Amino acid sequence: MLTLAVDTRSRDAAFFAGLRAREFARLDAQRLAYLDYTGSALYAESQLYAHHALLRRGIFGNPHSDSAPSRASTDVIDAARRRVLRHFDVDERTHAVIFTANTSAAVKLVAESYPFDASTSLVLSSDNHNSVLGIREYAARAGAAVHAIALDEELRLRDARATLAAAKRGLFAFPAQSNFSGVRHPLALVSDAHRLGFDVLLDAAAYVPSHALSLRDVPADFTALSFYKLFGYPTGLGALIARRDALAKLRRPWFAGGTVLFASVAANTHRLRPGHEAFEDGTPDFLNIAALDAGFDLLDGAGMPRIAVHVAHLTELLLDGLLALHNVRVYGPRDLTARGGTIAFNIRGVPYWDVEAYARERGVALRGGCFCNPGASEAAFGIETSRLRGCLETLGADFTPQRLAACAGTVVGAVRASLGLANNEADVARALDVIASLSR
Ligand SMILES: Cc1ncc(COP(=O)(O)O)c(C=O)c1O
Repeated sequence: MLTLAVDTRSRDAAFFAGLRAREFARLDAQRLAYLDYTGSALYAESQLYAHHALLRRGIFGNPHSDSAPSRASTDVIDAARRRVLRHFDVDERTHAVIFTANTSAAVKLVAESYPFDASTSLVLSSDNHNSVLGIREYAARAGAAVHAIALDEELRLRDARATLAAAKRGLFAFPAQSNFSGVRHPLALVSDAHRLGFDVLLDAAAYVPSHALSLRDVPADFTALSFYKLFGYPTGLGALIARRDALAKLRRPWFAGGTVLFASVAANTHRLRPGHEAFEDGTPDFLNIAALDAGFDLLDGAGMPRIAVHVAHLTELLLDGLLALHNVRVYGPRDLTARGGTIAFNIRGVPYWDVEAYARERGVALRGGCFCNPGASEAAFGIETSRLRGCLETLGADFTPQRLAACAGTVVGAVRASLGLANNEADVARALDVIASLSR
């Protein structure tokens, strides 16, 4: 049994070493340790070759017409929709794929179309990207109540079910994985929220690059993601994957080219197309959609379970290394339990921007700031709410993280290291060396 596990581990290590040499040689050629996978995945060389080969031999026109070039584009888009659904373990009978510019645009489609009114509520995890928190502006404008689920010391949701049970039914939005702390929130909350009468928007952006997600097992009504976070290329393309029954509840506030069955100026009327077509404004990004197949080939070639194990192994190395440095404070879980490959931390007495700059000069790409996740940041840094409110009101348009830190008398940002498919143990060791030399 033990021999079998060791064999698998060394086979997988050889696989990822080969992948790094074959697909990501530019990292070692430029001596760069890239630890910003939650910012963006890196593209593999094979994706570029496959996409360009397709473009060179194909003739692609504006889709939805009957010419051969138009049909070629429509076919590519239809095939991409099926591939996305297959990756998430569902099909066109139950789910629709709406191509968007990114996760933010996918979330906004739900935000602006959800039937909020005074009899409904919006429940948000405090740990959410700004692109999800922004839904509250649509909800509040429609008179819906807005509730936030608090976070505990590990930055996990505190009393999520009780908060949902106490709220009027409506929309519940949370991330499968935090882009701040790496916490994986319980996906069982989707069915719990359904039982309490909620529709659920799952922000899968930070979770799906290194973990399989079955929308058959996790029946979220709306799932938002960005493809560059999955496999680096193309940028400018994301998706809202919606259950068809949930999609039918949305009310689009406008129409555009491509979304209507008919529109009339004289009769002042229009009718939206059914399903995904009502939600894709204008001409879809058909040439970039054609690049998705090669991205999914990269993930399928490695296998999502194997990617998950690889990333978990590197995360453990990085986490243990950081926790061994006495001057480093890690925010969020201190072990691998229900967490992904994103780690936020600070070196005591060294501002995050200095750490980021020092690492950059030594060829290590980290990220500093609040990562567009103010709720997780506020909980992590323990900023007192009335003081924070006072500082933000005083600073107004003069806001900078440095001024907020001075006003609040506390740190207001962190360093984030995040891992993915292309990383190896040497990247982790280089990042730890840089951090250790600053934390002495
Ligand atoms: C969890 C999460 N949600 C949403 C977003 C927003 O994604 P995008 O900028 O691609 O719209 C991000 C981006 O980092 C993220 O990590």
